Amino acid sequence: MNIVILAAGKGTRMKSDLPKVLQPLAAKPILQHIVDNVAELKSHIYIVIGHGAQRVKDTITTADSSKVIHWVIQDKQLGTGHAVDCALQHIDNDEPCVILNGDVPLVSQESVINLADIASKGRLGLITAILDDPAQLGRIVRDDKQKILAIREYKDANDSERGIKEINSGIIAAPIKKLKSWLSMLKNDNAQGEYYLTDIFGMAAQAGEVIESVLADNHLQISGVNSKLELSILEQAYQQQQANDLLMAGLHIIRSDQFMLRGSVKHGTDCTVDVNCVMEGQVTLGDRVHIEPNVCLKNCHIGNDVIIKANSHIDDAIIGDDCQLGPYARIRPNTKLQSGAKVGNFVEIKSAEIGVNTKINHLSYIGDAQLGANVNVGAGTITCNYDGANKHKTVIGDDVQIGSDCQLVAPLTIAQGSTVGAGTTVMKNVSSYQLVINEKTQREIDGWKRPTKTLKKD
Ligand code: UD1
Ligand code: CA
Repeated sequence: MNIVILAAGKGTRMKSDLPKVLQPLAAKPILQHIVDNVAELKSHIYIVIGHGAQRVKDTITTADSSKVIHWVIQDKQLGTGHAVDCALQHIDNDEPCVILNGDVPLVSQESVINLADIASKGRLGLITAILDDPAQLGRIVRDDKQKILAIREYKDANDSERGIKEINSGIIAAPIKKLKSWLSMLKNDNAQGEYYLTDIFGMAAQAGEVIESVLADNHLQISGVNSKLELSILEQAYQQQQANDLLMAGLHIIRSDQFMLRGSVKHGTDCTVDVNCVMEGQVTLGDRVHIEPNVCLKNCHIGNDVIIKANSHIDDAIIGDDCQLGPYARIRPNTKLQSGAKVGNFVEIKSAEIGVNTKINHLSYIGDAQLGANVNVGAGTITCNYDGANKHKTVIGDDVQIGSDCQLVAPLTIAQGSTVGAGTTVMKNVSSYQLVINEKTQREIDGWKRPTKTLKKD
């Protein structure tokens, strides 16, 4: 089949410099949702662009690089019928044509396949829906035998037509030859002075063609977004649907209305997610993972029996089994925690591997480092990894004990079993089983008086 996606409009009602089809739904451009949904189908994809064309082309991709998108430029946005006509200029096969609106992000593969089937039988097809509030959508006008006579755009409709609750989803399919001939007959003598794609329904009805409509059972998949309000309403509904699917698959999301998934999550059994969690990119959770409130997880793998305490961020990291993180832990990209590691409050880790059962429990920065097993890093310890120009590595062997408030000046190796005294600045490599301390003197000053507060005169 041919799939034509209409994405040339400006989206004035968004009141934004970003083209409408690039507005984000669950952090992904709405047009990308459509492309991802249909890319797996055996089809030629044509996307009609105009407003912000270069930006749209630069942003939208297919996951499978062998699947090409044919970009069609519509210089002037003269209407949806004109937009489809621009695409048809580039199509010379006889496959059925499915037309999708670039601002209806959640169209399903199943609907596209159903419609292509209708068109492959030589019929005109569309998806309609019955809405309590049909707003400004195109109305389906039927005769008393329920045959479709026309689609009337809201702005051209009279009061009785505006009272119709059945609307055009914008998801339409037609045999390509018939479509070409109908489009060549379109006129723009209507309220908006545009060439409406929807006028082909009146033409087809008059010519006695069979028009087959499919009633959408899921309104989410036909929801279009024209304003930030509609975008936000759809975001909420989409998030709720994702949460419902995850709940049914056994992920315990304590408040499904306070959960955000901006990508995908795979999970094992008996995982719990408390309120206000945001998951981005690709997240995998093992079994029995417990996630406390306000946690952000992005592109990470979390092992079995992990506890992530409140207000922690994990970005591009692998967390082994039985680890504990947070509250307020920040795990930055390229970090790997081996099983049983513990990372406590106000600890930042970047580009580091933390060994089995190693603990970094309080107020530390560990960057560009490799820590062995059973290391204990005291509160306030910092790897000084940056000399102002380059980053350097810190290597810490198994069973090393680092006291509180130490500075580890990289490049540095502290070999197995050594102990670093509290408050030490380690500047040279340390061999195994040593005690390292900086010589500091402690004095006592006898009889020293504390300053007292001087009273202010007014
Ligand atoms: C359109 C339908 C309406 C339907 C609704 C469903 C028409 C005339 N109306 O109305 O019946 O109920 O969708 O959501 O088709 N576009 C172009 N080039 C143009 C004009 C539009 O590419 O010259 C693109 C837009 O970028 C958008 C899509 O076509 O992605 C639909 O256009 P829009 O102006 O949003 O149409 P609606 O008023 O929503
Ligand atoms: Ca629209």
